Amino acid sequence: MVDKKDLRFALVGCGRIAKRHSELLGMRQIQGAVLAAVCDVVEEKARRVGKQFSVPHFTDMHEMMKSVEVDVVVVLTESGLHAQHVIALAPYGKSILVEKPMALTLADADDMIRACDRAGVRLFVVKQNRFNVPVQKLREALEQGRFGRLVLGTIRVRWCRTQEYYDQDPWRGTWALDGGVLSNQASHHIDLLEWMMGDVVSVFAHATTALVDIEAEDTAVVVLRFSSGALGVIEATTATRPRDLEGSISVLGENGTVEIGGFAVNKMAVWSFASPRPDDAQVMEKYSVNPPNVYGFGHQAYYEHVVDCIRNDKQQLVDGLEGRKSLELISAIYESVETGREVSLRFQPSRCRLGVRA
Ligand SMILES: NC(=O)c1ccc[n+]([C@@H]2O[C@H](COP(=O)([O-])OP(=O)(O)OC[C@H]3O[C@@H](n4cnc5c(N)ncnc54)[C@H](O)[C@@H]3O)[C@@H](O)[C@H]2O)c1
Repeated sequence: MVDKKDLRFALVGCGRIAKRHSELLGMRQIQGAVLAAVCDVVEEKARRVGKQFSVPHFTDMHEMMKSVEVDVVVVLTESGLHAQHVIALAPYGKSILVEKPMALTLADADDMIRACDRAGVRLFVVKQNRFNVPVQKLREALEQGRFGRLVLGTIRVRWCRTQEYYDQDPWRGTWALDGGVLSNQASHHIDLLEWMMGDVVSVFAHATTALVDIEAEDTAVVVLRFSSGALGVIEATTATRPRDLEGSISVLGENGTVEIGGFAVNKMAVWSFASPRPDDAQVMEKYSVNPPNVYGFGHQAYYEHVVDCIRNDKQQLVDGLEGRKSLELISAIYESVETGREVSLRFQPSRCRLGVRA
């Protein structure tokens, strides 16, 4: 039964990731949230999802916003289109949730933040991996100061995306609408690395397109310096064959080491501190879930967070400014790839190709 107080969510974009969003909302897996309507410019896609969950479907988002009562509109379109859609939706005055990456250029991210501020609407950027239980546990240990001085933070994304994956939609792997493994698949892990290790002062990167025919890179390595003095390494590839291997993060400090592995940073692999605490022994057992696919379980916890923030007027964990931070880091990495130089943050992109239309 639909509670009057339930928040009504409407989806813009009924592609691959909309399956996850529509199932969570449409099958009432999020307390306090319902699916109200869906929209896709491809009518067949909108109709299919609308029919599955018995909600109205549209091919025009403005028509949807004008004809259905909506509390939160969820933007699930191609990455390079997020900015134009968020900016067009902001004047409706409803909260907006946008999939990662929030945009592909810093100028677009700034315009989105400004449009939402001007309209007085809240912008939520999906970073569902922040809500994975082992990730939350790692963050807790950092906030408790258990690591002491941070020494090294590393991430590995070793996933498998074949030519068939890139060929299924023309936007995939293009500079204008997607970028490569750094801006798409590894954007989650890059966000986690910065969230755990703090601000980055410089990056140096190499990238290559190893096994598929796309514009952007499928493989990249990056070295980073953090403002704390710690160092970092990013290893990101969608050229792992024949199947997904891992999405992981390691944090090493003077008093301890934590590594979270699994396909989608969901499985505690190492939890080791110089001064153990009584519940340390259970951490490995309790937080060692590996999800069935690389999207992980985080979207559910993420939606619960969104409902809690709106209902109880709490600050969201990833707003526009927080979402912009990892985009700035990714842009700096691309700038380094293009220039062959170490890039300091803050910087003005000049050679970075991400989000640039031909
Ligand atoms: N959080 C995650 O783990 C995760 C996973 C996968 C994808 N994503 C992100 O989700 C976004 C979508 O990815 P996808 O794989 O679902 O792409 P997709 O191509 O399968 O779906 C995008 C859909 O948006 C529709 N669309 C485009 N313009 C529209 C408009 N004006 N109005 C309504 N619909 C419109 C397209 O027709 C298409 O059906 C990307 O930004 C991607 O990075 C996030």
